Amino acid sequence: MATSRPRKPIVGGNWKCNPKTLEEAQKLLGEWKNYPSFDKRKIDVFACPMMPHLMKVKAPMEKLGVSACAQNCSKTDEGAFTGEVSASQLRDSRVGWTLVGHSERRTKYGETDEDVAEKTAKALAAGLKVVVAIGELLDEREAGKTNEVNERMLKPVIDKVKKEDWSKIVIAYEPVWAIGTGKVATPEQAEETQAAIRAFLAKAVSEEVAEKVRIQYGGSVTPENCAELIKKPNIDGFLVGGASLKGTFMDIVRKSLPPIRLKKPKFSKIQDLDPVSKGFNVYAKCTKAAKEADGVDGVYEAQVGDETGLVTVSFRNKDLCDLCKEGASLRIQNTAVRMVKGHIRLNVDKWAAFKVADEEHTFSVSEKNDVSATEYELVET
Ligand code: PGA
Repeated sequence: MATSRPRKPIVGGNWKCNPKTLEEAQKLLGEWKNYPSFDKRKIDVFACPMMPHLMKVKAPMEKLGVSACAQNCSKTDEGAFTGEVSASQLRDSRVGWTLVGHSERRTKYGETDEDVAEKTAKALAAGLKVVVAIGELLDEREAGKTNEVNERMLKPVIDKVKKEDWSKIVIAYEPVWAIGTGKVATPEQAEETQAAIRAFLAKAVSEEVAEKVRIQYGGSVTPENCAELIKKPNIDGFLVGGASLKGTFMDIVRKSLPPIRLKKPKFSKIQDLDPVSKGFNVYAKCTKAAKEADGVDGVYEAQVGDETGLVTVSFRNKDLCDLCKEGASLRIQNTAVRMVKGHIRLNVDKWAAFKVADEEHTFSVSEKNDVSATEYELVET
């Protein structure tokens, strides 16, 4: 069971030098828009398109609750610095966030730890929030130098950041061997390193800052692997590259939301419900495989639930019988509840969706309209 997280999760999409056209960038946002909106009070989400695209897609992005973030900013102010964008220019363009120190900037463009610290200081002075990326190379990990590298990268940043500005900093821990390689760090590897980063901040800055600063994990994060990573107490969200160029980035966002505290369903209460209520979502294990209902042609029934209660699910679509095998975890959305002879029945015809769940969930019933990809924390009543 997930435990509640002490820090607000934060998920960012780093589009890098992608996509090729503005039209594709707009199309991607169109895909994000097809997902149910998230609650901005519960999660921070940002995206970093390349600069000309950013200025074009910023407004529609912000409408979705996604903040505009630059991929980089200059360590210098305005002036004769060809190719640079200063922190105050970003601020003037209403961009509230910038990423600094991404490993591609460090390894492909020679940015030093000192450069990254100077950029951080400029961005903070201009009123931006800053995502500072750090992380070790493969040979550094293999040589047991992971923590040493992260500390070396953070040290100049720590020297330049005032205590009160730490609330505007997010650290993105991105092991370089995991970036764009499909080789994600295990939850244990990421947790161990991120706990070490926090411990270092406690020593080098303060306990309070260490406790509050959010640390993202980055490197081959996908909708499939993020749920296990986010369960770790020192992983406060993700910086996502490749997988942020897809509509399913929004699944990563939703899987990073804090668990909803849901009361353990009491079936006596559910019996009090309006017997024709619609819009119920159910996660359940199939306890009796589907078969044709006695005496009713073309209606199939299965039983779902656990020791807290059992519910009959009925439907007319014969193909659904294949999903309703005994022991299968099912996700049934937007179902109608009916009472037949004192027994609860869920009708899965017409508007409801019925699938095998990606993950196992504890039996739960909720009235929310769309709870796909939402994690529940059951609270005993
Ligand atoms: P990736 O990139 O998710 O494609 O591995 C992460 C990043 O570079 O921030």
